Formats: sequence, structure tokens, C-alpha cells
Amino acid sequence: MSTKVVIGAQWGDEGKAKIIDILSEKADVVVRTQGGNNAGHTVAVNDEFYKFQLIPSGILYKDKKCIIANGVVIDPEGILNEIDGLVEKGIDVSTLKISNRAHLVMPYHKALDQAKESLKAKEGKEIGTTMKGIGPCYMDKAERSGIRVCDLYHEDVFEAKVRENVVVKNAMLKHVYHQEVQFDAEEIIKAYKTYAERLKDFVEDTTVTVYEAIKEGKDVLFEGAQGTLLDLDIGTYPYVTSSHPITGGACVGAGIGPTMIDECIGVMKGYITRVGKGPFPTELFDATGDRIREEGHEFGTVTGRPRRCGWFDAVIGEFAVRTSGLTQIALNKIDVLKDLEVIKICVGYKLNGEVIKYFPASLEDLEKCEPVYEEMEGWGEISHIRTYEELPESVKKYIHRIEELVGCKITMVGVGPNR
Ligand code: GDP
Ligand code: IMO
Ligand code: MG
Repeated sequence: MSTKVVIGAQWGDEGKAKIIDILSEKADVVVRTQGGNNAGHTVAVNDEFYKFQLIPSGILYKDKKCIIANGVVIDPEGILNEIDGLVEKGIDVSTLKISNRAHLVMPYHKALDQAKESLKAKEGKEIGTTMKGIGPCYMDKAERSGIRVCDLYHEDVFEAKVRENVVVKNAMLKHVYHQEVQFDAEEIIKAYKTYAERLKDFVEDTTVTVYEAIKEGKDVLFEGAQGTLLDLDIGTYPYVTSSHPITGGACVGAGIGPTMIDECIGVMKGYITRVGKGPFPTELFDATGDRIREEGHEFGTVTGRPRRCGWFDAVIGEFAVRTSGLTQIALNKIDVLKDLEVIKICVGYKLNGEVIKYFPASLEDLEKCEPVYEEMEGWGEISHIRTYEELPESVKKYIHRIEELVGCKITMVGVGPNR
């Protein structure tokens, strides 16, 4: 038996879903523990692409139990669309289970996300969120005014909570954000009752399901969303998401203890990307950056926005290893770096005349950091290669130098999107 947490070790979109899909073959249960439909996870099977936002990527295998646990925020309309899309493709979703403790994304969360972002954009201070209402939903959770999946099945409680929230949210939209949009509580109640009916058979106490699977010696995989630097506590705050994508978040988000986790796998790309705003020390603004974006198809799955691209940053790599206790790394997309004469790795930052090796907390410091680069020899086409031994020496050197710098072994290397 083994339990593995798979997380993003950079700014998201590291190819977590591909790794989860590969590991799912041997798993019994796949669990999403945080985030919501801000995530965009792509799995390619024989060049056919499947996109997931809330549903665990393990769903492509027939017999795997897929769980959306308590730490996830669920947009019921979004998940029903996702379920319908998968059913249309002939995929069996009967193994899907949804936590009764998960919080619900409500229509006013999405409106508040947009209202706040557009207000902030006037000063150029927007976060660049996915506009899925994720931040406002987690805000209500922390403020203790959120509405959970279990509330859907207690009509009086649900109706009272919606009515109470709508009064407050309408006032915020009107008086704080000067928006015209106003919500009708009764309309929301009606729509959510329909969703509740359709979701009913999927809902259960998933803390029990996950615990029992682990006790029975099953293989359990925890699928992270977003990435380390988007973590609410240790990421580039405030340019982060509102949940905990680091491995620690998986325990809270699934309702299990840390002693139940065997392996912590961090997924990285051979370079770095970021969507949305916020500092990014190794960002490339030149032809090499454009080339990585084109070659790596670095455009957002959820919003279609071009992803910002830059060189691999070992300061970030070490930070991820340290803050998530990583035991293994999967290094994806090194095929994308083909035909570059020189490949750079950032090994430290120059800050106020000193070289530092840690990732600074203050964004003001981070913005001043100049990357210190080490140059490595490039390589050609490697997407056909299937064993470590066949890789060119220059790729092997790159892999080993990254292992040395970040302090963790690389056990998987990605050379293409397909399984
Ligand atoms: P996730 O959010 O971490 O699951 O990653 P995304 O699915 O948003 O983005 C990763 C993209 O890279 C997807 O389009 C994958 O199909 C693709 N991909 C994953 N691994 C590799 C790889 O090793 N090489 C190449 N060329 N593409 C990859
Ligand atoms: P996956 O799971 C990359 C980013 C947004 C924005 C910030 C806050 O596919 O790796 P939010 O809507 O969460 O309030 O936005 O976080 N972001 C992601 N970036 N990959 C993701 O998910 C992301 N989910 C959120 O672009 O900068
Ligand atoms: Mg993604």
C-alpha cells in the first residue's frame, strides 16, 4: 500500500494531471483536496486531450474511486457541466464521490471576484484571478458564513443561509464596488435545489471513505491543484490563490493526519511559467521566452491567457522541496527546451549586493532580486526517448544539477504530453 501526495512545485500548470494519470494506473483512489475550478488539468491519451477542473484526473481509468474532498470549493453548475462532458465522451463517472463538507461556490462569489478585480485593475493592482469566485468563496469559509454541500440537503438551513448571504453580498456589490448586478435569493435557491437533486448520489462523508481506503491498504493518490508559489501562506502573497497547494494542505483538505502520507511528489517543469500577476525573477521577455511559450503551448487551460515563461529557478525548487517535504520530483516538459544552444538555471538571487539562496517573503525584495545563472549545454529532439539511459548526456547533466541544487531526487522525466 502507499499514499502519495502530488503537488505543483512552481506556479501551477507543471503537468500534475499527466503525472496523476500515470500513477493512477496503480492507484485505487484519487483525491482532490483543495482549490476549485480555477484548476485546469490536461491529460493526453493517444493525442486525445481531456481537460479537468474539479474532477480528479484518475476518472479516465474505469475502476478508480475519485473523490472531491472537503478542502475543495465546488461550483455545482461547473461540476455538472464537467460530469456531462465526460459522460458524453463515454467515461463512467459513477465512481465519483463529493464531500458533504466541501464549500459551495455561489453566483455572488463570481460577481464579487470580478468586481474586486476590476476595481483593483484601475490602479494596476489586480491579482489576475481566474474569476471563478474562488477567493470570495474561501473568504466566506474563513469568515464562517459559507454554505456547504451538506446544507443543500437541509432545506430550511440552506434557504436561510442563501437569504442572509444575498443581503450582505448585494450591499457589497452596490455600495463597495458600485456594481449594478443584484442577486435574487429565491432564484439562487431554485437553481441550487436542481443541482442538489442531480448531485445527491455523489455526496458522502469522504473523510471516512479516504480513511477506510488507507486502513484497508489501498493505494491512495492525492491530486494537488495550483502550485507552491500560489499557496496562501508561503506563496507570493497577495498574488496567490486562497487555498494551500503545498503537501500540508492535502491533509487538511482530505481530513486525514500527516502520518498517513508515504510519499510527497513535487511536479516541476524544466522551465517556469506563471499566469496572472506578481513577481517572477527568471521571467524571459525575449525571443527565447516566446519560443518556450509556443513550443510548450503555454496558454491557460481555464482562461486561455498566455503564460509568462522563464528559466528554471532552483531557489524556487529548493523552497518547494523544503516547504512540502518532497521525497521525489517529476520533471516535465524538458522536450520543450530542445534546440536551444544554452540553457540557464537560476542558482541564487543577487539582492542588495549579496547573493541569497532563499526565496524572500517580501515582494519588494523579490522584485529587486536579480537571478544568478549557471549555463548548461542544450540538446535536440528527445520526445521519442523512453528510458533514462537513452537520454543525451546534456539532459542527464541538467537533471543531476537540478537534483543537487534543490536537494531531492528526480524520479520521473516528462518528454511529451502523452501517457
Ligand atoms: P497541471 O495544471 O499541472 O495539470 O498542468 P496543465 O495541464 O495545466 O499544463 C500542462 C500542459 O503540458 C498540458 O497541456 C499537458 O498536456 C502538457 N504536458 C505535460 N507534460 C508534458 C511534457 O513532458 N512535455 C510536453 N511537451 N507537454 C507536457
Ligand atoms: P492548476 O491546478 C496556474 C492563479 C491565477 C491567479 C491566482 C489567483 O491548473 O495548476 P484564483 O482564481 O485562484 O483566485 O487566482 O492563481 N491560478 C493558477 N495558475 N495554474 C492553476 O491551477 C491556477 N489556479 C489559480 O492565475 O494568478
Ligand atoms: Mg493547469
